[in-house]
Amino acid sequence: MKDVRPIGIFDSGIGGLTVVREIRRRLPAENLVYFGDTARVPYGTKSPRVVYDFAFQDTRFLTGQGVKMVVVACHTVSSIALDSLREAFPLPVLGVVEPGVEAALAATRTGRIGVIGTRATVLSGAYERSFAARRPGVSVFTQACPLFVPLVEEGWLDGDVTGQVAELYLRPLIGKSVDTLVLGCTHYPLLKPVIQKIMGEGVVLIDSAEETARTVSDRLLADGIDGGPGPASEPRFFVSDIPQHFRKVGELCLGESMRQVVQVDLEAGGTG
Ligand code: DGL
Repeated sequence: MKDVRPIGIFDSGIGGLTVVREIRRRLPAENLVYFGDTARVPYGTKSPRVVYDFAFQDTRFLTGQGVKMVVVACHTVSSIALDSLREAFPLPVLGVVEPGVEAALAATRTGRIGVIGTRATVLSGAYERSFAARRPGVSVFTQACPLFVPLVEEGWLDGDVTGQVAELYLRPLIGKSVDTLVLGCTHYPLLKPVIQKIMGEGVVLIDSAEETARTVSDRLLADGIDGGPGPASEPRFFVSDIPQHFRKVGELCLGESMRQVVQVDLEAGGTG
């Protein structure tokens, strides 16, 4: 029996669509429901308490849509609230930190790994803990890059300003001679060319979106809840504010057009 219930994916806003894109590429038969909390983005500048509350509301909205699994596409939420979500909800809840860490450990030769993310992700220490739990000897260097998110949201994926900002953020990591760099934020895969150019071709960039899609696929099979032979119906997109902007910039992240984006009010119980 195939399980045609959708996979639920959420993020603070648009960036999680990079994860949707990879899941669609890898698992074209799976039905998907996405929620982007565009009314309250960014999460990466907020306190753990606030991120935690938002994470629970977002997950409740998706479980209300009858999903079989929740993918927390947001690194900030994955860093702060993943364990609590797993304890609270009776379905598989997957995050984006662990897949990135596993891939970085497989890629590194020198054991010197950089991680870039939002300020909240870096302050949480989640990456350091996850690396230490798997391979205690590795050296992990983290760097918050708060301006990357607004640059991507504006669609400024290259050009002088983006290059200069990236140079300033990445210089300390070049100084640490990392050989692997985890893109620890939903938005950063869209800046890959700029980041690769500054870090140099010898540094392996870990795109957590790709790794997460692989983990989702493995878990569906392991739990026997993988979808039908497909093709899936079009993903359903929900946001908490300004669906037009979500759609415009979101199509960049998703790499395909979105037919319909529905606005919902989580505080009023998730209705439109
Ligand atoms: N989705 C967030 C993350 O991956 C980035 C945007 C935000 O700060 O909310 O950490």
